[in-house]
Amino acid sequence: MTANSEPAISADEARALAWLLRWYAEMGVDLAVDAEPHNRLPEKDLGEPRRIAAPHEPATRTPQPMLSTDAAAQSARDAAAAAQTLEELRAELLAFEGCALKATATQLVFADGNPDAEIMIVGEAPGAEEDRLGRPFVGRAGQLLDKMLAAISLDRRNVYIANVVPWRPPGNRTPTPLETSACLPFMRRQIELVRPKILVCLGAAATQTLLGTREGIMRIRGRWHEYDMAGTKIPAIAMLHPAYLLRQPSHKKFAWQDLRQLAKMMQKIGN
Ligand code: URA
Repeated sequence: MTANSEPAISADEARALAWLLRWYAEMGVDLAVDAEPHNRLPEKDLGEPRRIAAPHEPATRTPQPMLSTDAAAQSARDAAAAAQTLEELRAELLAFEGCALKATATQLVFADGNPDAEIMIVGEAPGAEEDRLGRPFVGRAGQLLDKMLAAISLDRRNVYIANVVPWRPPGNRTPTPLETSACLPFMRRQIELVRPKILVCLGAAATQTLLGTREGIMRIRGRWHEYDMAGTKIPAIAMLHPAYLLRQPSHKKFAWQDLRQLAKMMQKIGN
């Protein structure tokens, strides 16, 4: 309503806007990042970023120019290698400008659980709840993950949890190969700094990225593989993602088989 109580838009316009918002949400555009559109192509190629005229509201974030793909990969490798502690790695990620998801996510979702744990669990990317709270696996999938862990007497005090991509992709879409490869040096370094004795990859995306395979999750799950942690081989297992199990509850039996494999390996390494 305007100051003199006239409706600012007509009922037809309101309906059209509601329809447009619904359409955006269905296309995966489910949050407003800024009042102004920004040109995120590299500044050095195009000169100063050009602004497209837009209603004049103050920008809520200072836009940073995106790095080119090669520059992003190099910057990720350098930044990850420089980190000597998890805190330093977190700081490097906060300063990293090589993954476009950072611009649309609310915040970095770095990790949860115990950094001294012998088991590290890696998922794909944060969802809406994780993005809101800044912790991985706190939504419905996370609640199921907690139940799965409890079934073999584990909880967040004896596991460390993170995601290959630490920023939420809009609309919870799968991260693109470019986004994943931009973040991968950080995940590899995170694993090196935690030094787990067992790695658990949740879902196809984390499994394929960390174990370097194109095999489907139904074929690769439940079997032991080796993850090369900077020269030290550690046992790694792929499990079905809890978000998938929420959609396919009849497949929980496979998750239970995989959890039993994990429990056996814990016993073997003397956990
Ligand atoms: N799915 C993931 O892969 N990670 C999360 O943190 C939440 C859902």
